[in-house]
Amino acid sequence: MRLIVGKDYSDMSRLAAGYVKKEILKKSNMVLGLATGSTPVGMYRELIDMNRKGGISFKDITTVNLDEYYPIESTNSQSYRYFMNDNLFDHIDIDKAKTHVLNGMAEDSEKECASYEDLISSLGGIDLQVLGIGRNGHIGFNEPGSQLYPYTHKTSLEESTINANSRFFSSLEEVPRHALTMGMKTILNARKIIVLASGKEKKDAVRRMLEEMIDTSCPATLLTLHNDVTVFATEDAVER
Ligand code: PGA
Repeated sequence: MRLIVGKDYSDMSRLAAGYVKKEILKKSNMVLGLATGSTPVGMYRELIDMNRKGGISFKDITTVNLDEYYPIESTNSQSYRYFMNDNLFDHIDIDKAKTHVLNGMAEDSEKECASYEDLISSLGGIDLQVLGIGRNGHIGFNEPGSQLYPYTHKTSLEESTINANSRFFSSLEEVPRHALTMGMKTILNARKIIVLASGKEKKDAVRRMLEEMIDTSCPATLLTLHNDVTVFATEDAVER
């Protein structure tokens, strides 16, 4: 696992965007796995800027997002589909038909998850997966537990995640209790992975991930099984 430390959030965002840019320049039709949350927003801003200035194009890129609340309408401003449109897709030259987010209103969630796995396979797999990391070490909505489900699945959110995410909703009650998420194997099948971590509240989770002891009580530790992971962190997310 490589660690790249930015002195602050904007530095980290710039470094991570530079990495993504390089990958896009190597493969203009790449399959890019994307994440939501507050951490990647700065990197998305940088990518939008690069796209505007003509440094990179997304027109041949296909994206697959990590997860989505369940149930949630895609038009709900808290849905991850809405987030992606708002923070990235509406501002770049991507073909929206090539942007994929799990359907938070799918009637049959199992079927939706199985189709998502099929979709990723039919695209030839994910070239680069962008990840955030939860304070509790979750990756996507793979929450700490004694067992982790390998493939895309429906899951219940941990109390701590519901509390952490309630800052985006008008009340705690409005936070959906379930989500659809790629599983750890889906994620580990990506050819390259980057993890973005900012802020001291991520320090414990980042330390455990970097220590490389695998423990399902911190799903991020499974990333050590992958041989091409780069962590972009702010100084305060890694200082001892
Ligand atoms: P955050 O979420 O970027 O909003 O901190 C990260 C995560 O929970 O994966």
